[in-house]
Amino acid sequence: MTTVAGAALAEAAALLSRARSGIAFTGAGVSVESGIPHFRGEGGLWTKFDPYKVAHIDTFRRDPAQYWTYSLNHRRMDAEPNPAHRALVELERLGHLRAVVTQNTDGLHQQAGSGRVVELHGSSHEVVCLDCEARLPRDQADRMNREHCPPSCPACGGRFLKPTVVLFGEALPVAALRDAQAMAMAADVVLIVGSSLQVYPAAGIPRMAREHGAELCIVNAEPTPFDDLAAVVIHGKAGEILPQVVGQVAAL
Ligand code: APR
Ligand code: ZN
Repeated sequence: MTTVAGAALAEAAALLSRARSGIAFTGAGVSVESGIPHFRGEGGLWTKFDPYKVAHIDTFRRDPAQYWTYSLNHRRMDAEPNPAHRALVELERLGHLRAVVTQNTDGLHQQAGSGRVVELHGSSHEVVCLDCEARLPRDQADRMNREHCPPSCPACGGRFLKPTVVLFGEALPVAALRDAQAMAMAADVVLIVGSSLQVYPAAGIPRMAREHGAELCIVNAEPTPFDDLAAVVIHGKAGEILPQVVGQVAAL
């Protein structure tokens, strides 16, 4: 159990209880306690694999079968929201969060019950055809993949069916980025959870909010480049810290 100095918890709770247009900005660290690995920092995937090899659009286009074969054998379907996801739902219910802006593609914020989730890096639960832009649920693509790997587009027969997850070398979805920027400019508090804040343009969202006067509260296992900009920084596990903070907000 992460024991956090009482003062830091109280400061975070006081800041969040004042939020009237707060947003959460989350990264892979918020899903680690759901069994989904993060990318950077201690034990991260990118310390074991070269991201520009395994997660680049050029690699996918060269050989979509490599992705879909890996997916056939490794796709995780059992991840569940953890107490960190549920604490953000409670903070929204208490009226202090307008939305969750996430870099994650696992859909766990929605599964936990967050009402408004902006997926900056797309979703692993939706697939798009790179030839005709037809979209279909990932479950349908997985069923097709089990029959024939890699699956072909049911609309045009194209061979490039890809989860809408934004790969290196791809642009972020325009509507999601625009929504996130609008909320960042209007935010009074940004609760940053489980992100190394090293990937742009996503990391530009909390930066933009700060530049427009928002206070930052960071909950992360390791130090981040934004720690000096934040009003409150708590290093530790989100699934242990957030319930404590939100519990104090509810009691205020
Ligand atoms: N609780 C809180 N923080 C945690 C936990 C935890 N249980 N476990 C790990 N962390 C921290 C790590 O220390 C790290 O600083 O979460 C952070 C996750 O950072 P990254 O792995 O870089 O993930 P993220 O910031 O979401 O990466 C952004 O990079 O590879 C791309 O598209 C990918 O969306 C991803 C983007
Ligand atoms: Zn198609």
